[in-house]
Amino acid sequence: MAGPAFDQREGHIWYNGEYVDWKNAKVHVLTHGLHYGSCVFEGVRAYGGEIFKLEEHTDRLFKSAEALGFELPYTQDALMRVQIDILAKEGLTDAYLRPVAWRGSEMMGISAQSNTINVAVAAWEWPSYFSPEARLQGLRLATAEWRRPDPRTIPCKAKASGLYMICTLSKHKAEQAGYNDAMMLDFEGYVAEATGANIFFAKNGVLHTPMPDCFLNGLTRQTVVDLARRRGIEVIERKIRPEELGDFEECFLTGTAVEVTPVSQIDNYAFTPGDVTKTLMDDYTSEVLPKAAAAE
Ligand SMILES: Cc1ncc(COP(=O)(O)O)c(C=O)c1O
Repeated sequence: MAGPAFDQREGHIWYNGEYVDWKNAKVHVLTHGLHYGSCVFEGVRAYGGEIFKLEEHTDRLFKSAEALGFELPYTQDALMRVQIDILAKEGLTDAYLRPVAWRGSEMMGISAQSNTINVAVAAWEWPSYFSPEARLQGLRLATAEWRRPDPRTIPCKAKASGLYMICTLSKHKAEQAGYNDAMMLDFEGYVAEATGANIFFAKNGVLHTPMPDCFLNGLTRQTVVDLARRRGIEVIERKIRPEELGDFEECFLTGTAVEVTPVSQIDNYAFTPGDVTKTLMDDYTSEVLPKAAAAE
């Protein structure tokens, strides 16, 4: 993404209870979260100054921390207040917020039972994740060689930094081959999701989406399922085999960052954004409007 590097921006970051200068929001190199992946985070978005699903994102952050066996030293209300306040402090209205929590430096080893839990919240202006051209044309995905792991091997519902290692590997490989993103299969070989978003397909006006049994049941995914059902569009959550991709007419991704973004190609399968995709893109755009503006 264009713009200054993320450690070189102007502004303030909320860091363990106080606002620090953006460039000074640092961690020590001997930090447990850095070496052993004991770190959880959220990706949250504000539209017109109002944070979409603030409570749900904050709740997920706490649940992710719990899944990694640590407790955040703040209440959910206090962290929600920080996220609201940082927007005002930084003068942001359409923004991305990144709450993050990690184990500190007191112990450097696998065990870090008594390490301090650090918490920070950064916020910055965030335009569309993919360029407008890519979005209109639909994204091109390639199937990743890495798979979403068996839920018996990792806490798969946690938004934990360690779980993104395979996402970065997969996305890099797809980008190097000229694609926008990778589609990941799960450990059993069923279609799972993209590297930072959930996936939907449409056929004969019906939506099909993988069961989120070994990956994040995204808040955008849940919103889109609700929006579709409100429209009377049938939504089938099921196991989807990669060989079925040729049967679908439409495909799109959902996520806080990508919102609802059409997919035009996965490997050799082509998709064309149709009525279902366009309706849900519009409905999602209306759904995230700040309540005050939506009421006008
Ligand atoms: C791996 C992965 N799957 C799905 C999602 C979509 O989740 P949400 O809609 O809550 O942003 C995200 C983004 O957080 C993600 O990183």
